[in-house]
Amino acid sequence: MRGADREGNRNRALQYTAAEATIIRPATLADIPAILLLQNQSSEAARWSESTYKDMLGSASPRLLLIAESDERKLGFLVANFAVDECELENIVVVASERRKGIARELMRALITTAHEHNATRIFLEVRESNIAARVLYRTCGFTVTGVRKSYYRNPDEDAVLYSFEISQRD
Ligand SMILES: CC(C)(COP(=O)(O)OP(=O)(O)OC[C@H]1O[C@@H](n2cnc3c(N)ncnc32)[C@H](O)[C@@H]1OP(=O)(O)O)[C@@H](O)C(=O)NCCC(=O)NCCS
Repeated sequence: MRGADREGNRNRALQYTAAEATIIRPATLADIPAILLLQNQSSEAARWSESTYKDMLGSASPRLLLIAESDERKLGFLVANFAVDECELENIVVVASERRKGIARELMRALITTAHEHNATRIFLEVRESNIAARVLYRTCGFTVTGVRKSYYRNPDEDAVLYSFEISQRD
């Protein structure tokens, strides 16, 4: 094995370990300060207020709020909204220092499992056309492009690309 290949394999092994060491669990009120910090550090993330996150954790809320945590350090989160038999992924963020270690993929996996358990038929989302990291993530998680919304985003003006994942394709 050449040196570079060996290095590549070791990095892959480390990445696997990092994602493995990460726990994905439902968020609680105590997680909200960390969630606000994570969203505020990411210019691509959707921004919500503390009170909106508190509402999301109410017992009647249709929202799913998941946290990725390692050694009690909050590394990322995901927000999805359940309505009738569909689920919309509204936000997913991983702290910049821990990206490309498989954490978002684990969050997506947990979302798909939860959507399946709730008998949702599909998960859909929209993303800025220029957000390559998120778009490759969605594609590698099995989402396919279903359309484009012209000039959907502002500041800067940009198209939204629409993605969908059919739950029946999970198994
Ligand atoms: C998008 C985001 C959540 C991905 O998180 P992550 O933990 O780094 O993603 P993962 O490590 O699980 O990556 C899974 C796969 O997605 C793809 N991917 C992730 N980041 C990528 C990047 N920067 N460039 C290309 N592909 C990327 C790769 O296929 C990757 O697999 P690989 O590393 O084995 O090649 C993260 O970059 C982020 O928080 N971005 C800012 C917020 C955001 O844009 N959210 C989405 C819109 S709300």
